Amino acid sequence: MNMPLNVVILAAGKGKRMHSDLPKVMHPVAGKPMLGHVIDTARSLGAVRICVVYGHGGETVRAAFPDTDLHWAKQEPQLGTGHAVLQALPHLDAKLPTLVLYGDVPLTQADTLRRLIDTAGKDAMALLTVEMGNPHGYGRIVRLHGQIVRIVEEKDADDAERAIREVNTGILVAPTQALQRWLPQLGNRNAQGEYYLTDAIAMAVTDGLEVKAAHPSHGWEVEGVNSKAQLATLERLHQGNIARRLLENGVMLADPARIDVRGELLCGNDVSIDVNCVFEGKVSLGAGVSVGPNCVLKDVSVADGTRIHAFSHLEQASVGPRSSIGPYARLRPGAELGEDVHIGNFVEVKNSIIAAHSKANHLAYVGDATIGQRVNIGAGTITCNYDGANKFRTIIEDDAFIGSDTQLVAPVTVGRGATIGAGTTLTKDAPAGQLTVSRAKQLSIPNWQRPVKQKNP
Ligand code: UD1
Ligand code: CA
Repeated sequence: MNMPLNVVILAAGKGKRMHSDLPKVMHPVAGKPMLGHVIDTARSLGAVRICVVYGHGGETVRAAFPDTDLHWAKQEPQLGTGHAVLQALPHLDAKLPTLVLYGDVPLTQADTLRRLIDTAGKDAMALLTVEMGNPHGYGRIVRLHGQIVRIVEEKDADDAERAIREVNTGILVAPTQALQRWLPQLGNRNAQGEYYLTDAIAMAVTDGLEVKAAHPSHGWEVEGVNSKAQLATLERLHQGNIARRLLENGVMLADPARIDVRGELLCGNDVSIDVNCVFEGKVSLGAGVSVGPNCVLKDVSVADGTRIHAFSHLEQASVGPRSSIGPYARLRPGAELGEDVHIGNFVEVKNSIIAAHSKANHLAYVGDATIGQRVNIGAGTITCNYDGANKFRTIIEDDAFIGSDTQLVAPVTVGRGATIGAGTTLTKDAPAGQLTVSRAKQLSIPNWQRPVKQKNP
């Protein structure tokens, strides 16, 4: 559902406590910068304008989001949250309300924000507030006869105000024309010498605007990140949510606390995932797929019934149905495997097509190769695809048998049904149906004596 509104994302803060050269909002949650989560949430609301307020040195932030639907307002120096929103005003549609989000509060859910926006309606202001057992550090919501009348920051509050447990999450909605009136009037005579956005609440009340409150569905939706410890906490929380969703959709997880999804994981029925697997980018697992412990899958599609065994690493690869990968297999970009393909331990496949029923079960490198059906690749086989300057292809046709410890010096073709003897260094094409072997003749020397160690003279 599209909502006609502006979204301002505050992302100019330095984030000193992160102790990092990376701007705070660029720190990832589930593999995506926190700011990316907030931008995606704003988009999911159907915001008409999204304006990110960024700070000095934040050019790297801006460069990380080249999307043309974003507006950028530079805030330099950073004089407070009110000053920050003021910088964004020229980018907004004055007729629509404005929602303020924080770039370091990544997990706010769209349904919570829709509720906040609905609470504000066309003309009122709405704050997202929560009750906290320990409200220390937050702005307190001051109410008179139940009505919100102002917000007081921790550092400016007296004892009675500090006892208030309803706090400001910082997320709010206000009519944009009202913000245009209020923000230039903000002062900075407070404990922190800042232009507080929160001072606009008292201005709203003076203007006769109603200030309402809405509440998030979950406490974690409004948790911000100021330190690596808080980042790690939110990451686990988010991963826990993802794991719960997978379980609800019928995916069997050996341990929901030991899975990391950094992207999109789509699963068919009866998928099972053992402990300590990491899924990155876009991964799809067909019905009945099982993934063993300690696997990493990035931008991979795996068809129905395939088993990925322990300690396998797959990236930008596709695996056909009823195949078997690993343990200890590596599929690199461009590996395209057909049905019932077996890739065993310490086998690396890169930029290669392997057709149905073919097997490379042990210790092999298959790079830049096109391999037909029912091919057997023996242990220790290497496609020598690189001469130090250029890459060349190896073609192995259907039903070929490659003996162990074969080197295929590309470009080279092994014909249909050919057999390559163990230990062969293949530099010319091997004809179909024949045995090709390149190997020094075996010889035995009778009465041969091993050298004996000489005595010191
Ligand atoms: C703010 C609120 C406080 C609320 C708390 C919730 C004000 C005055 N106070 O306090 O009521 O309880 O958030 O976490 O608004 N930022 C800028 N430019 C600035 C200052 C801040 O972009 O000049 C950004 C920060 O990057 C951050 C957000 O605004 O994303 C909040 O700033 P922060 O300094 O954390 O505000 P608090 O003092 O915690
Ligand atoms: Ca804060």
